[in-house]
Order: sequence, then structure tokens, then C-alpha cells
Amino acid sequence: MNIDEIKKKIRGEIGKEILFYRTAGSTNALAMDLADTTAEGVVILADNQTSGKGRLGRTWWSPPGQNIAMSILLKPRIAPSEVTLLTVMSAVACADAIRKTTGLSAAIKWPNDLMVSGRKIGGILTELRVADKRITRAVVGIGINVNSDRAQLPEEIRETATSVRIETGSAIAREELISGVLNEVDRRYEILRCGEKPVLLEEWKSLSSTLGKKVSVVIGDRILHGDAESIDDEGRLVLRLASGESEKIHSGDLTVLR
Ligand code: BTN
Repeated sequence: MNIDEIKKKIRGEIGKEILFYRTAGSTNALAMDLADTTAEGVVILADNQTSGKGRLGRTWWSPPGQNIAMSILLKPRIAPSEVTLLTVMSAVACADAIRKTTGLSAAIKWPNDLMVSGRKIGGILTELRVADKRITRAVVGIGINVNSDRAQLPEEIRETATSVRIETGSAIAREELISGVLNEVDRRYEILRCGEKPVLLEEWKSLSSTLGKKVSVVIGDRILHGDAESIDDEGRLVLRLASGESEKIHSGDLTVLR
């Protein structure tokens, strides 16, 4: 990984400082540990992770030399209830950067799966610490499958996951996509800081592969079925149930029904 190549292309504050680890446990855990002594916008990047974390307590596969695993440390001045907006902003930024860098039609499956051709190419895990009802630190962890080929994908995700290389047929320089993602996140973070949430929500909606579809959502031990109608201004999914009532969902495991 050539960190200077990445830094040369960085246009804003996010990614001006990059701490690179050949091997990390989890870049999210590292970023959280470093938060007290580290400025907003610092990026923790690892070539591979030995215990990468996914959403809902799952593990995230991060082999050496192939993909992107990085975490951005933020200290946003937003209410804890608005934290989903960080994920919304990051998902939009990643989908946009994948589109611009690779030409692939990346889309977002609520809340934060990055999809290409119906398969998952990446994901985002946002973690935060709250004190006195304020966010003291937030870590946006981004994993994107870049140069893995299908045979390299672990068997349990071989049918449901994909990578840039699988979709385009050729490997790319990870540095290009990393700087692209960081610049796109920087731009959206500025929009969020200016209080222009609707801009981000509209972008999210236009990149969504979920809205307008029949879906099921697992929330703990509940399963809800309905039409994915919208997302509200806190980033919650608005699900129209068969009863006609609607339910707003903060987080869950969503499947698009065919
Ligand atoms: C998901 O389950 O879709 C979210 C995956 C997030 C993975 C990334 S890789 C970099 C960062 N560090 C982690 O431990 N997880 C996130």
C-alpha cells in the first residue's frame, strides 16, 4: 500500500493524516482507542484485519493485499439520535466513489450495504461513544472488496458477495479508491456540518436499491414484512406494513424479497 499516493490526492481534512497498519485486529477498535489523543479526520488504514467487525456482531473478512479496511475518526456535533446520518453520508460517499473510480453501478441497501449487481461489495460499521447525551467520538469503519477474485471469497459469502475485480474483470490500485472515498466523505461531512441533511437524504434515496421494494427486516427476534417506503430525516427506514400502518426502523437485517 502506497500511503504517499493516497495523500497526494486528498483534497480536504479527512485523510490528511493516515495511520497505516500492515495488520490490525480491527481498525474501528484502534480508531476508538486512539480517539482521545487523535484529531478528527484521522484515518486508520490496515492492509488486513485479524478480527474485522461487521454489523450485528458479525465478523468482517479482511485478507492481506486485496481489499480496503479503514476507519475514519469523527467528533461530530450532532445528537446521538442523528448518528444514522453519519452512516447515510458515508454510504452515499462510498457508492459515489465506487461509481466514479470503477464505473460500476454501486447502490445502497438500507442501512449501509454497498451493492453491485445484487451482491454485497462493501459495508459500513459506525460506532460511537456518548457522554452527557452528546457524541464524544464516532468511528466510521469502511470495508470494500476490491481485488479479491471469486475463488478467494470465503465459501459462506461466495454467493452473496462480490468485488470490484469480480465485477469489472480487472484489478485496480486500492490507493485510487481509498482517496476517492475519503474525498467524497469529506465533501458530505461538510454538507452535514452546514446542517443540510436533506441534500444527503436525497442522494441516499437516489442511490438506494431498497426503496419501493417488498422487504423483510429482522430486528432482534422480530421479523417485519412490508414495503420499504422511504427513509426519514434521522435515516430510519419507513416500512409500510400489510396492516397499512407504518413503522420506523433504526437498525435491522434487511432482505429484499423477489
Ligand atoms: C457490515 O457488516 O456490512 C459492516 C462491515 C464494516 C467493515 C469495516 S472494515 C474496516 C472497519 N474495521 C472493522 O472492524 N470493521 C469496519
